[in-house]
Amino acid sequence: MHLGIRARRRLTRVALVLPLLALLASACSPDHYPQTALRPLSDFAKIGDDIQTTTFYWALGVFVLVEGALLYAIFRFRGKPGDAEPRQVHGNTTIEIIWTVIPALILAAIAVPTVRGIFQTSAIPTGDILTIEVTGHQWWWEFRYPDLNLTTANEVHIPVGQTVSFRMGTADVVHSFWPPRFAGKRDVFPNRQTRLWFKAEQPGEYPGQCAEFCGIQHGRMAFRVRAQTPEDFQAWVAHMQTLGPKPAPAAAAPSSADSVHTASAGAKVQAAQQPQAGAKPPAAKDSAAAAPPAPVDPAYAAGEKLFLAKGCVGCHSLNAVGAPKGMIGPNLANVGARSFIGAGSFKNTDENLARWIQNPQVMKKGVLMPNLGVTPDEAKSLVAYLRAHQ
Ligand code: CUA
Repeated sequence: MHLGIRARRRLTRVALVLPLLALLASACSPDHYPQTALRPLSDFAKIGDDIQTTTFYWALGVFVLVEGALLYAIFRFRGKPGDAEPRQVHGNTTIEIIWTVIPALILAAIAVPTVRGIFQTSAIPTGDILTIEVTGHQWWWEFRYPDLNLTTANEVHIPVGQTVSFRMGTADVVHSFWPPRFAGKRDVFPNRQTRLWFKAEQPGEYPGQCAEFCGIQHGRMAFRVRAQTPEDFQAWVAHMQTLGPKPAPAAAAPSSADSVHTASAGAKVQAAQQPQAGAKPPAAKDSAAAAPPAPVDPAYAAGEKLFLAKGCVGCHSLNAVGAPKGMIGPNLANVGARSFIGAGSFKNTDENLARWIQNPQVMKKGVLMPNLGVTPDEAKSLVAYLRAHQ
């Protein structure tokens, strides 16, 4: 077979373009696109990934064979000027049977792992499992740990190496729970429970997303999966279990503090984790001497008052333990420690939190939280108060 100069040039060009395409494809790393299903980090995700890889190689084989035959025919049987008319063919039963049977066999071969994967991933997990109840809301995610008596929102903490079983529903419309590094999408429905499970293999923080159109802020209905080593997860649970209604101190307990943390408890958290420029930390020798009452940051105290006065408390619980069901807004027990606010939409910085509190509608139009007419100074106090809830 002789290739013309032109044909050879064309082949050279194709040969040059292919590595460029490969380079482009390799640029799609999870660092640039963290919401990828192509780098599985759990047993569940690997089942899906294996099926997709198997299908890909079958498709690659078909592509190479078909395109190879096509290229061979193009170059081998190329017409030259003066050639006689080729023999005309109308139908060939043998070839038609072959090209029907081969795809049928390929599809059957792909169906076997696919059906096996469907059964594997829809099985109900048994053994040492951690149950987490997921509720979709327009537009945020509620997570409850029934066995640990904990509630949180938008950031789900899970232990690595233990199967986590999600029991899921919705408070309003249909959503779809999708943690792409760990599992496929699973729709959540009203009045019906759907399930999803996986065993995470690697600690880290990974994105998740609502994957079913559920209103104008569907795109900002994200969440974070915080996979932790078993020790870190236990520490997190132990810490969260302290974030509940505190027994009122014997003397001078403000009645309004029953449903939220007492000021002194929150202020201690804040003093430990967020030393404010203005607030003087107690000197070491002082605290060693007579254990004086922790100083209450004025901004924190003002924020606590505003949280009640502005009615925030009507929609948001600050208790991780014993949080009431059916709250309209996300639980804020550990909001100060979360990476994002607005359901995975904005980095949890003081600036973003203040902006959000002053006018959530600007940042996430249509969100159920109304504009409460909070002034910039009030927002600062509320941020100080919420930031202490770690
Ligand atoms: Cu919830 Cu889309």
